[in-house]
Amino acid sequence: MCGTDYYYSLMPDLAKKLDEIVPVQRPTRTHFANSGTEAVETALKLAMHATGREKFISFFGSFHGRTLGSLSLTSSRAAQRLGFKRQVLDVVHMPYPNEYRNPFNAEDCGDGGVVQGAVNWIENRLFITTTPPDEVAAIVVEPVQGEGGYVPAPAAFLKELRRICDEHGILLVADEVQSGMGRTGKMFALEYSGVKADIVCIAKGIASGLPLGACVARADLMDWKKGAHASTFGGNPVAIAAALKTIDLLQRELVANSAEVGAYLKNGLEKLMSKYDCIGDVRGWGLMIGVEFVKDRASKKPDPELRDRVEIETFNRGVILLGCGANSIRWSPPLILTKENVDVALEIFDEAIAASI
Ligand SMILES: Cc1ncc(COP(=O)(O)O)c(C=O)c1O
Repeated sequence: MCGTDYYYSLMPDLAKKLDEIVPVQRPTRTHFANSGTEAVETALKLAMHATGREKFISFFGSFHGRTLGSLSLTSSRAAQRLGFKRQVLDVVHMPYPNEYRNPFNAEDCGDGGVVQGAVNWIENRLFITTTPPDEVAAIVVEPVQGEGGYVPAPAAFLKELRRICDEHGILLVADEVQSGMGRTGKMFALEYSGVKADIVCIAKGIASGLPLGACVARADLMDWKKGAHASTFGGNPVAIAAALKTIDLLQRELVANSAEVGAYLKNGLEKLMSKYDCIGDVRGWGLMIGVEFVKDRASKKPDPELRDRVEIETFNRGVILLGCGANSIRWSPPLILTKENVDVALEIFDEAIAASI
């Protein structure tokens, strides 16, 4: 724990609350920061500090922040890297197990699809060439890739990551900055797999828009040497109070609302998919849903220009949606969304697609 140099009672209250809800083996300890990227920096430093190792494995398409450590993991767009020279940390990137666009070759996948392809990539390629497992501090994964296209990781893959980490003393870091705090219809996306990480990074929704990041780790790992890590404003009292209230609201109604209204939204988007051949995929959980635009469903050829047009046409009709990945749109509305809101938004989305094709 660390605040503005002194403790105030709400801070341990929030740490205790996180200990109850975060998918990390209890007991945990939490370091509070001001943003997502800082929570990730904490995780990286902690993984190095706790293991004495310095290599990391990350995924193409990932986004973990823009400060130099987290930028070494980030790989969703060249613009985020351009001009910032070589990556500061020793990170090797590998393809993310995207079930709609399997990035692995058939031989690597065998009968096991993307999950086997990804596992083989780690065990039979990285570990025996560039990245000896004994030197890997952590594998850092988004349980749902956010910026990279709203792509959920298969549960079996996350379980395999857990196994690989356990076998080699590697830490599993889950970046739930975007997918956490009820966004996916569960408090954390990792819960869909039943996997527990060693370290979880949280920010964005945790304090309903106030600046707060949290790095929650197994207590035995978060055992810094004195002076090793701190932040003056990390966990400021106003943001901490907002986070406690946010978690209360999430637990009382908003996680359930995210699951229920999210399922309703996904159903509506799937109906639009049967109407429009340019929607290649609708995926995700809760109120974290990705819609991928293609030239046609048979070819699956990405159509980023169409995606851009739909984004603008939707905006012009009063609904703000953001792109993600090369050719997808993310649905990431406030968790207070109602089914009536969904009906209006889907009607507008439908009109926007019709106007864009
Ligand atoms: C998964 C993930 N990690 C980290 C970050 C960085 O968070 P911040 O912008 O608060 O530094 C983001 C931001 O989009 C994110 O989506």
